[in-house]
Amino acid sequence: MIKIGIVGVGTVGESVVKILEDNKDIIRARSGKEIVVKTGVVRNLNKERDVNIKLTDNYLDVTTDDEIDIVVELMGGVEEAYKIVKSAIENGKSVVTANKALLAYHRFELQNMTDKPFEYEASVAGGIPIIKALREGLSANHIESIKGIINGTCNYMLTEMKKGANYDEILKVAQELGYAEADPTFDVGGFDAAHKLLILASIAYNIDAKPDDILIEGIENIDTIDMEFAKEFGYEIKLLGIAKKDGEFIELRVHPTLVPNNQMISKVEGVMNAISVVGDKVGETLYYGAGAGGDATASAVISDIISIVRGSNAPMLGYKKPLENGDFKLRNRDEIKSKYYLRIAVSDEVGVLEKIASIFAKNSISISNFLQKQGNEFVKILLSTHEAIEKDIKNSIEEIEKLNFVKKPVNVIRIEE
Ligand SMILES: NC(=O)c1ccc[n+]([C@@H]2O[C@H](COP(=O)([O-])OP(=O)(O)OC[C@H]3O[C@@H](n4cnc5c(N)ncnc54)[C@H](OP(=O)(O)O)[C@@H]3O)[C@@H](O)[C@H]2O)c1
Repeated sequence: MIKIGIVGVGTVGESVVKILEDNKDIIRARSGKEIVVKTGVVRNLNKERDVNIKLTDNYLDVTTDDEIDIVVELMGGVEEAYKIVKSAIENGKSVVTANKALLAYHRFELQNMTDKPFEYEASVAGGIPIIKALREGLSANHIESIKGIINGTCNYMLTEMKKGANYDEILKVAQELGYAEADPTFDVGGFDAAHKLLILASIAYNIDAKPDDILIEGIENIDTIDMEFAKEFGYEIKLLGIAKKDGEFIELRVHPTLVPNNQMISKVEGVMNAISVVGDKVGETLYYGAGAGGDATASAVISDIISIVRGSNAPMLGYKKPLENGDFKLRNRDEIKSKYYLRIAVSDEVGVLEKIASIFAKNSISISNFLQKQGNEFVKILLSTHEAIEKDIKNSIEEIEKLNFVKKPVNVIRIEE
């Protein structure tokens, strides 16, 4: 029998307890042992819960309990969770976590701290087994790129905006449906997706980047008019987490992206997640499924528990040794190369286009598509560029925004083909 302790018996924790009971026949057959929850840790012992396990509000009751083999951290947050997971490691426990925020900041420290199994399948894309796919299934490949829809809230909102809903309306609905938090910044600002991207990039490239090191833009400035441009030129707008190898450099970025509507990932709608991974030998592989929800996430958590019980001890981030040719370097965000879409609100005056075009020409940017739409207040110039360098686009925007006839900050969406 294996005894586990669960720190955090909320949405995911409760599902873990229930599935261990509901599916105990298949779990016992697959793991070879009976898995029993000995103790759960919560903040508030008086709260009503759907599960009946022994509870405590002192994490040491779990992390220092000699009978407990595996500590499952399902409380969320960064520093408090780090303290508790560290205590579990120091007491010789194997660890399972679903906590992407913890890993976005501390994954390399945690890896160096433990020689026991440390699993985190549920931390990226909930129920989709993307960690095991990258770390194990694709381990023979150099990873060329990862592109993922890894925040269900944003994907739901963008799907609805394509049907005509406006941003504020649909954010409210997403909150009512429980997809977005009361403070939705973390999702719509792209930070949650960035945490997940950083975890995937560590497995793909052994690169230790933190959220502050990478380009993160959210969906707050997407307008239904951008959807019209996308439709006209055969794109969908998706919030993507992108990791890409270019020689010794790795690009890591999260931003709304125009994706050609013939790519499979562009067809992923609503709260669903999908991740495309291209390996140099396998080619493109695509993973699709529920990125959140108690049961889907618990499915991944329990698969980690089963792996540990079976005795597998894969290196946490997938590497037993450093890369022989040296580490990859993170590409500076100003050096990123992409195609771009820009929305520029101008007053209806003669010479506007010539002036904007001359600024682009001076910064070596060439325009590929162009649309003009009459808005309520201003004329909207919508254009896309051929491949350009981020800093040239930034310089152009700075100059364009200084022009008298430009009435609002320029909006940018990167294009990924
Ligand atoms: N929900 C999802 O769909 C999903 C998907 C993927 C990953 N995750 C990750 O899974 C983790 C858990 O998410 P969740 O949605 O289950 O959260 P949740 O419903 O808010 O549950 C959190 C649990 O942790 C407990 N807790 C919080 N701080 C604590 C502390 N300092 N000491 C002891 N217990 C503490 C809470 O206790 P009380 O019950 O007493 O308040 C609660 O039981 C997070 O890292 C999240 O990012 C969630």
